[in-house]
Amino acid sequence: MLNISVTRNDHPKQKPADEGVLGFGRLFTDHMFLMDYEEGRGWHDARIVPYGCFDIDPAAMVLHYGQAIFEGMKCYRRADGGLQLFRPADNLARMSRSAKRMCMPELDEETALEGLRQLIRLDADWVPHRDGTSLYIRPTMISMDVGLGVHASKKYRFFVILSPVGAYYKEGLKPVSIYVEDEFVRAVRGGVGFTKCAGNYAASILAGDVAEKKGFSQVLWLDGVEQRYVEEVGSMNMMFAYGDRIVTPRLNGSILPGITRDSVLKLAVKLGYKAEEARLDVHEIFADAKAGRLTEAFGTGTAAVISPVGVLAMKDEKVTLGDGGIGPIAQRLYDTLTGIQYGRLPDEFGWILPL
Ligand code: COI
Repeated sequence: MLNISVTRNDHPKQKPADEGVLGFGRLFTDHMFLMDYEEGRGWHDARIVPYGCFDIDPAAMVLHYGQAIFEGMKCYRRADGGLQLFRPADNLARMSRSAKRMCMPELDEETALEGLRQLIRLDADWVPHRDGTSLYIRPTMISMDVGLGVHASKKYRFFVILSPVGAYYKEGLKPVSIYVEDEFVRAVRGGVGFTKCAGNYAASILAGDVAEKKGFSQVLWLDGVEQRYVEEVGSMNMMFAYGDRIVTPRLNGSILPGITRDSVLKLAVKLGYKAEEARLDVHEIFADAKAGRLTEAFGTGTAAVISPVGVLAMKDEKVTLGDGGIGPIAQRLYDTLTGIQYGRLPDEFGWILPL
């Protein structure tokens, strides 16, 4: 593991006075963690420095060819004031898998984890206290080589920034309305859909924008070949409940293998539900919702936590799921998952890393 140097910020910012209006990713703490990579030298210069801009050459490859990947995780404050992380090593391992596909270097996961732990300890006062809030952690890796030839960069920067957050959706735990995207696609077979690369999110912005103007919170992506099978909602994986059976799209290379998705599947079984991964035909989903067989739908994600879906719309069709409110399964999974994350419930799966 690399040695990590620390330069303290002499001009700390004012912390938010009202934790009720944090929103998502609008404020950043006083420090950040950086380390650099160069072919032949590996990762080096692990350092915590005051949060701020860094110089980037206009010809840096990330700005032109988009080798950029990121992760999202959270640090939670327990009732006794202690801080804890949820499955951070799994996020960093996923980042290394994203890196491999994007022809970027594998992360030095040990140094990255230690770096972010030291960073959070230094900025611990920024972890909010209010129910439902947390400190969002955004590890990111970008290519830094200067030049316009299209090939893998030989230099990279890894950085971690921290943001005190509330709910991702303005609705909070209230159900969101989702539009099923039938024109654009997010990912295709053999592509980069399973990675957390910036381009996947860039590709989703137009459809999200159109949906928002129609009054929806997000779009539900269908597969890129037949535009028929349910994939994910860019900011979360999707789950559908049929009575006590919970079904989610099977990982097929174009869906993000969500850490929250995996945790919810495991928790669901523990709580006595059946949990299945399958290929889900969107027309069947609509038919099942209309016939009352599909009783709940909800998204899962680090930022979104568990987000109930009240309405699904596709072209001119609209279905309400359950009674349009938060369903009992989503509520129970939310209470259990956040119970573990905030230290109110025992961590039977070994997911928690105390700070
Ligand atoms: C997360 O849930 O952490 C995400 O990265 C989703 C989104 C905010 C981009």
